[in-house]
Amino acid sequence: MAEHLDISLGNKEEKYQTLYPQIVSLLECENDIIANMANVSAVIQETFKFLWIGFYRVMDDKQLVLGPFQGPLACTRIRYGKGVCGTAWEEAKTLIVPDVDLFPGHIACSSLSRSEIVIPIFKGGKVIAIIDIDSAETDTFDPTDQYWLEKIAALFSDL
Ligand code: SME
Repeated sequence: MAEHLDISLGNKEEKYQTLYPQIVSLLECENDIIANMANVSAVIQETFKFLWIGFYRVMDDKQLVLGPFQGPLACTRIRYGKGVCGTAWEEAKTLIVPDVDLFPGHIACSSLSRSEIVIPIFKGGKVIAIIDIDSAETDTFDPTDQYWLEKIAALFSDL
């Protein structure tokens, strides 16, 4: 009997190595950004079972609006410079927050969230969206997550 390939097996680096080409293929077949955000949320969630994974899109250069996600109910709008997401947008760089209680202004969409990573998506040098991931444990995210999630975010720049 053929062995079933379970992408949830393996360490973090191996999981991203399996996940990344899957995402490349998904995005090659479709150029609608919302459809792609939806499927990318799904495959990241299938792999890692995070508390929350999703996208916020920049609207009118003023606020982030909730996009496709997997996980519990989330805040729908976040202003520029507010929370971890708005700060990552303002600073135009990835933010890793090992303990959300120590991040001034963290927006607690879920009281279960303990750590977070936010990765901007750039187009033409501007942030057009962000990927936000929440974990129910502290210290979940490290440079391995940053490396791979920035590669995944970069795939959205070409859509
Ligand atoms: N915690 C985020 C808000 C978004 S939710 O986590 C989904 C923030 O501080 O920006």
